[in-house]
This record gives sequence, structure tokens and C-alpha cells, in this order.
Amino acid sequence: MRNRSWKILGTTFVLVSLWAQVSPSLGAETPSSIGRRVVNFNRNWRFTKGDPEKSEMPEFDDSAWQAVRLPHDWAIAGPFNPNENGYAGKLFWKGVGWYRKTFTLEESDIDQRVYFDFDGVMAFPKVYINGELAGKWDYGYMSFRVDATPYVKTGTNVIAVQADTRQHGTRWYPGAGIYRKVTMTICEPVHVAHWSTFVTTPNVNDSSATIRVRSSVENHLDGESQISVEIVLLDPDRRAVAAKKRNYTVPGDGSCDLDISFEITNPQRWDITSPKLYTAKIIVRTGDKVYDTDTTPFGIRTFHFTANDGLHLNGRRVQLYGVNLHHDHGPLGAAFYSRAMERQLEIMREMGVNAIRTSHNPPAPELLDLCDRMGFVVWDEAFDKWDDKADRVRGEPPLEQHGEKQIRNLVMRDRNHPCIVIWSIGNEIGNQPYDREGKSPERVKFMGDFVRKYDSTRPVGLSCHIPGTVDQPILDSLDLTGWNYARRYARCRERYPDKPIIYSESASTLSTRGFYELPFPNEKTQFSKQFQVSSYDLNSAAWSDIPDVEFQLMEDDGFVAGEFVWTGFDYLGEPTPFAQQARSSYFGIVDLCGIPKDRFYLYRSYWRPETTTVHILPHWNWPDRIGKNVPVFVYTNGDSAELFLNDKSLGRRIKGQRPKRPANFAQAKSSEASSAELDKGNVAARANDGDESTRWCAAAAGAGQWWQVDLGKVQHVGYLAVELEREAKYYGYEIKASTNSTTWQTIMTKATSRTPSWGGPRHAFHEVDVDARFLRVEFTELRGNAWASIGEFSTYPEKVESAYYDVTYKYRLRWNEVIYEPGELKAIAYKDGKEMGQAVMRTSGEPAALRLTPDRDKLSATGEDLCYILVEALDEKGTLCPLADTLVRFKINGPAETVGVGNGNPLSLEPFQADYRKLFYGKAMLIVRTKEGQGGTIRVSAESDSLRPANIVVQSSE
Ligand code: GAL
Repeated sequence: MRNRSWKILGTTFVLVSLWAQVSPSLGAETPSSIGRRVVNFNRNWRFTKGDPEKSEMPEFDDSAWQAVRLPHDWAIAGPFNPNENGYAGKLFWKGVGWYRKTFTLEESDIDQRVYFDFDGVMAFPKVYINGELAGKWDYGYMSFRVDATPYVKTGTNVIAVQADTRQHGTRWYPGAGIYRKVTMTICEPVHVAHWSTFVTTPNVNDSSATIRVRSSVENHLDGESQISVEIVLLDPDRRAVAAKKRNYTVPGDGSCDLDISFEITNPQRWDITSPKLYTAKIIVRTGDKVYDTDTTPFGIRTFHFTANDGLHLNGRRVQLYGVNLHHDHGPLGAAFYSRAMERQLEIMREMGVNAIRTSHNPPAPELLDLCDRMGFVVWDEAFDKWDDKADRVRGEPPLEQHGEKQIRNLVMRDRNHPCIVIWSIGNEIGNQPYDREGKSPERVKFMGDFVRKYDSTRPVGLSCHIPGTVDQPILDSLDLTGWNYARRYARCRERYPDKPIIYSESASTLSTRGFYELPFPNEKTQFSKQFQVSSYDLNSAAWSDIPDVEFQLMEDDGFVAGEFVWTGFDYLGEPTPFAQQARSSYFGIVDLCGIPKDRFYLYRSYWRPETTTVHILPHWNWPDRIGKNVPVFVYTNGDSAELFLNDKSLGRRIKGQRPKRPANFAQAKSSEASSAELDKGNVAARANDGDESTRWCAAAAGAGQWWQVDLGKVQHVGYLAVELEREAKYYGYEIKASTNSTTWQTIMTKATSRTPSWGGPRHAFHEVDVDARFLRVEFTELRGNAWASIGEFSTYPEKVESAYYDVTYKYRLRWNEVIYEPGELKAIAYKDGKEMGQAVMRTSGEPAALRLTPDRDKLSATGEDLCYILVEALDEKGTLCPLADTLVRFKINGPAETVGVGNGNPLSLEPFQADYRKLFYGKAMLIVRTKEGQGGTIRVSAESDSLRPANIVVQSSE
């Protein structure tokens, strides 16, 4: 079908005459369809799981297969596998699946080029057209094009796609199948080459900008083609502001490159505060016949990352308030809907986010369109690891080959998006030689150079997690580095003072929306036995921190461009710390359905200091704690607040004021040890000198060493805090107590532990109950080459909050001693002495009614528009019932269908595709999809056995 001669075709003629009416002179806009047709190819597919023989053959009978509309994720419907650990979501995503679709081409189409563009197929897709293998791809997150021209025919055609996830490696839920959109493009044999257009802005100032447009025109005809190429630049109001025309001769079966620059005056900048988009339109003609029109949105902006002062965008410093987002959309699985993404970004923007990291893979292209339009900067990431998570199976294909192939598609596809400010070649890749597929100076350099080959206008980086990496020249060739957690960038800063640093993952704070547990954890890694994580926001993964620690860090380290929190949304898989029990993460600032957790308001209060936030936590329904302590926190952008319980003031709290800590009565008392590392001055007294940066250390490695303190007199000891030199998991010890230093009783024993596998806290806390004058720590077991050593040993009469949490008093207002009674909590917040907002939290009565709240009430009948409907339980007075777990059933009347239900509970194994859902802490989410071409009224009702039903109406229009 290639190498055929050029004919003036019926379709072309119609299009050309249409074109003639809208002359290409300045001021007119060219309809983008002219010269090429881009057809949404998402509808009317058939799908089966499994690998039936001859599925690719046109005559294969697929009538028994399931009718599906793309995007489609075959695993998300469930069921869950309760016996599987939760790392990949407990869903059955591994296997083979087939998709088939018939389509018709006119005779005139057959002389054109026919391409299929897949934005993402998980995984290893093979695309057959009329029984022949037309294309395949080997990275589940990457977009690819299949040239179907040689395989299509007039009349009925069959496309069949096999997806095979069996060899795909992952650390989270990947999804399965054709989970992003598919389009069919039909164009003339002479057309702009796929992804060849590259618009850059080499010079930008306030009065003018240079716009350079590079592109390539392909000629699939035998003979050469004389063409004219017109490039029109449209400003953000779609007015043409510049145009140039050139003539070219494109050799038969060849291509020609164009490179044309323009000067425009008074450029309107693309910025996160006003994301102005220009458009470059390339019109390819022969005579006055239009062969092709290629449209590329672009932005005019300047930016650079500095080593000492973060990101400068359009000449001013912009602190990155970023989040990491995984590719899944909760109850929708990996299936990508533009509206689901837009909603994610709306929620994140409401919180103050201005930067997105597409952790850890190429995103759906619409994410970038949305970030361009909405004003976010983006860290666009090619890979997680470079092993089977990049779809390299047992080291094949070689990294050089695979790396360039995937990076080529990523960079060529995405390089015109003004939102992108960083290309990342990977995340937390181990170092060679310890990691066979790990990074070495050479490997980092060639991966970075592939990026630069296709775009040299943006910095190339990667996310690191091993501080010692900087001891080898591994990072030399990178323009900047990203670092994950715990200020691990510190050594890089010393080694590479001229390389900009981004905090590419921060926080990894954990919480379950709506769940609160008392008493507070002693330390960040002390978790609930209920497999949920308390929403007081005091827990994080062992290797990471609570938000406040990171706020402080970003204030202290102004050279860092800002943080990307792990993560904005909860995602499927990686349910640290309950990997066995749960199926989705606890990391999200909002839950899996996009319902904010309390943390949302903490970030909002800090990231949007000018916007009023006054948020009270926890809920105020504690029937079992009447007369007992229930601490209250307020997250506000104010600097202080007064709290009232049933109109009684509980006092005013001011940010930065921390309650006094009771005296540590071991401090500076006489201490001794079995031995001491005298040459380094690590004597016994250093373990109780009140300074965590000094320590006692035994003179030799090995267990059996001890350290002890004499408190001076017999005292009641209720709480011990032991700061160790390294992570507490490496130390096993017994603590003994004595009143006379002759008879000792063991008051607690601590074993070593193998968890967490990476990092972990250096503090151990022990609640004890003993009267003692002497306390002794005897080391019984040491792991990981640790020596017997103590940084600081502190003794208190009762439990004391760890100094780790001191920083929370700077960013939150805390009333720790509230005695619970039902009723009403009210917070009045102040800023600079003036009242600036209030919030109220009431005890609810019994659940009485359901409420439905749609996120939008006007939808498009595209078959791809979504409505997110929040479901809640209220009492008779309309107060939210924060503990309700009612089973709710849904009905839809009208042109829409359910695509997902969820409630944010990481433990729930209820299916995501169902017409019912239990409320989780009073809430659930129903997601409804419109039907293509069917406008009308959509009525949604929710009912349960006990509560008054709710109904809403939304409109879908064609
Ligand atoms: C990081 C990793 C992320 C995620 C996170 C959880 O080390 O890059 O993908 O696993 O930890 O805290």
C-alpha cells in the first residue's frame, strides 16, 4: 500500500474547498481537521481475558466477548485477592487480554495514511490489523503509533490488540489493558511527521520573543512533492500574530525538515498564575490544496533552576508546592479520563499545589494539556527503576536501546508543553555494581544525553535516595538532582554546590480519612492495631516525616526549589504500613476518592497563607470518651485561635508556642558504663548531657556492654526515651532498675528488628512503671555493625511527647488536654490580632438521611465525561455523621452509567464496580459516566435500609 502514486481524492477535494472559504491569511483560523482526520477510537470494542487462539484473525467470532468502551482496565472490576499482599492492590492484573474492533474505511481512505495512536497499553501490546502484526510496544506507560497503512483495506477491517502483563514488574497497582485513549488518524501521503514539531522560544523579554518552529514533512509517495508550508502563530486569544510561508521539495519516500523563526512583540507569558497559550499552526499545501494541518500549543516563558535560590520562573522565584501523583484514579483503576485528571488537579490546586511530579512514569498526554491550561509546572518522569518496572525482561533489551526508544517517544511527545520544567530519567535507582540494573556514571550520562538529543531546553534530573551516591561521579552529568526524604540531599549539596536540588519526595505521612485513635503515638512509626492510620497526622513511614518537619526544612534550606509531597492522592497498592492487610495507600493528602483528609487543610493553611483556612479535627462523636481526654487540633493560616467547647473557652493557642516539657531527671546525673570509646571522647556522661548530638559509645563492638545512670534518689519512673546512634531496629537491650545498685529487676526488653527494611527512627520510647534510683541499659544484641551506644537517655515521671513533634506547634494549633463532652466545638482564628475566620464541629445525632452532592451538574454527552457524586449521612439537624457506615444502594435513570464506587477505606475489598457501597466514616463516592450522543436528564438516587433516600438531577448535553 506504500509507494503508490498521488491521486486527487474525493475527500481531499471537499476539504480543500472548505479550506478555500477560510483563507489562510492573518486573522483567520484554520479548522484543525483540514488535511487530516483524527478519529476518537475508544468506542465499540470487544474484550476477553485470556489468550484464545486466532484472536487476531478477522474471521474470529468475538460475539461472546464483553462489549467495552475505552479507556478500559480489565483488573479493576475485581474481585480482590484477600490472600495476596497489597503491594499491587490485591487485584488480578497479571495475565493476557484481547481487544477487538471492526471499522470501515472508504475507498478514498485507502490512498491515505492510516495511523493508530495508543496513549498507553498495559503491557507489551501487539497490534494486529486484519490478522497481520502491524505494531507492538514494550513499555506499558508509553504512547506509541502504529502505521496501519500497509494492512488496511476498503470496507470492513478488524483491529485486534493483545495486552500481556505477565512480564511487567511493579511496586504498585499498574492496571491492565488499553487504559488510555486510542485515536485513528487518516491523512494525506504528504504530512507533518508524527511528533516532529518542536516549538522553542530562544529569546524572551518583555517587549519581544523569538519563536522557533522546527518540524518535518514526510512524503510517502514515490515521486517528489513540491509543497508550500505556511506557519501561523496564534496568540492566546486565537488571533494570528505572525505567519511565514516557504516552499520545499520533498523527495519521494523521504522527508524534509523545516526550521523557521519568528519575532513577536509584547509576548504574553505562560505562567502558573496566568497560563497563556499560543498555537503554532503548520499548513502544508501543494498549490492551494491543503495536505495537512498540524496544530501545536506552546507557551512563552523563561525559567531556570538555580543552585542557591530554587526555581526562577519568568524572572521571579517560585517555591514549588508539589505533589507526586501516581497514574491510577482510584475506583477507576488505571483507566484514564480527562475529567478525572482535571478534578484531581482542581482539588490539588485548591490546596495550593503548583507543581506535579508524574511519579514514576510518562503520564497520559491530557495531564500535560491540563497542566498547561491550569498553570502547574511538571516534573515529567520516564521510569521508576530501569529493570522489569521499565518492562525490561531479565535485562533485555539492553538499557541503551530501550532507554533511547522510550525517551525518544516521551520527549518528542511532550516537549512542546510549557508546563514541563524537568525531565527525569528515573526514580530511586540502585547504584551499580550492587544493583545489576542500577546506575553508573556512564548509564546516567547516556540516558540524560538521549533526553538532550530530543530537547536541550530543559534540565535533566533523577530522583535519588542513597546519599552515598555522591561519592562516585554518578550524578556528574545531570543538570539537577531530586532527593527523596529525610534531608538526604545534604551530602549532594556539599559535593555539588552548583547543582540545583529539588526535594522530589517529601513527607510520606500516613493517615486514614475520618479515623482517629488515642492516645497519640509515641513516635511516627507507632501504628494502630486496626490497620488504619490515625488522622491526627502524627504518623509517617519510617524513612520519612510528618508535613511540619518538611515545612521547616524548606524554610531552612532556601536553596532547595521546593517539595513534592508523597502523595497528593491515595493510590492503589503500596499500603505501607499494612502491606499485608490493605489494598491501597495511606500516603494521600486526599483519599482514594478525592475526599480531603485533615492534612489537606494543613497544607492549604501553609501553602495558601492569604486564603482563609480554619479546620478543626477530630470529629466530635466520642460516646466512649465522655469525661476523658480528646485532643483538638486546628489547621489555620491564622497565627492563633481560641477554642470553645459548648461556649466555654479552652484558651487561645499561638503558633510557635509549645507547652513546657517536664524535666528529664536523668540529665546531668552521674553515669557510668562498662567501657567507653575514650579516644573519641564518647564517655558515659555524654549519654545524659541533654545534647542529642553527643553520645556514649562502648570501647569495642559487640553485645554485653552496659551504661547506667544514678538518679540521685529513688523516684517514680514512668517513661524512658532512648536516642540511639543509628536506627533503633539495630539494637536489642534490656533496661534494668534498682533502688540500691545491688539488686536489679528487668523492667523492659527490646529485641532487634528487621523492619523497616530501609531507614527507621533512631528513638525508642518505653512506658514503664517502677520506683528506682539506678537505671541500666544492657545491650543484648546488635545488628548492622552497630556498636553499643546511646545518644541521649531521658527519664520522666510520666509519658512525654517526643521532641520530634515540637515542630507541630509551629504549624498547627493544638489543645492537648480537652476533656470530651458532646456538643459544639468552635474555633475563632486570628491573624495579626484580627479575627479572620471561624469553624465549628458538632456532635451529630443518629444518622437519619442521605445526601448526594455532585461535583458538577452539567455534563457532556461524550461517553467520557464523569460526574463525581459525594454520598454522606446526616442526622436530623443536617449535621454530618462521622461514624456512619451505612450500606447505600444507587440507581441511575437517564443517559449515564456507573463507572466506579469507593469510600476511601484502604482495607475495603468491596468491588469498585457496583451499584452499592458502604459509607466509610460517613462518606462514599459514586462516579457516573455519560453516554455518547445521548443528552438528557440524569437522575441519581441513593437509598439504604435505614436512612431517608436522596435524589439529584444532572444534565448531559450533546
Ligand atoms: C519512595 C519511592 C516511592 C514510594 C515512596 C513511599 O522511596 O520513590 O515510589 O515507594 O517511597 O514512601
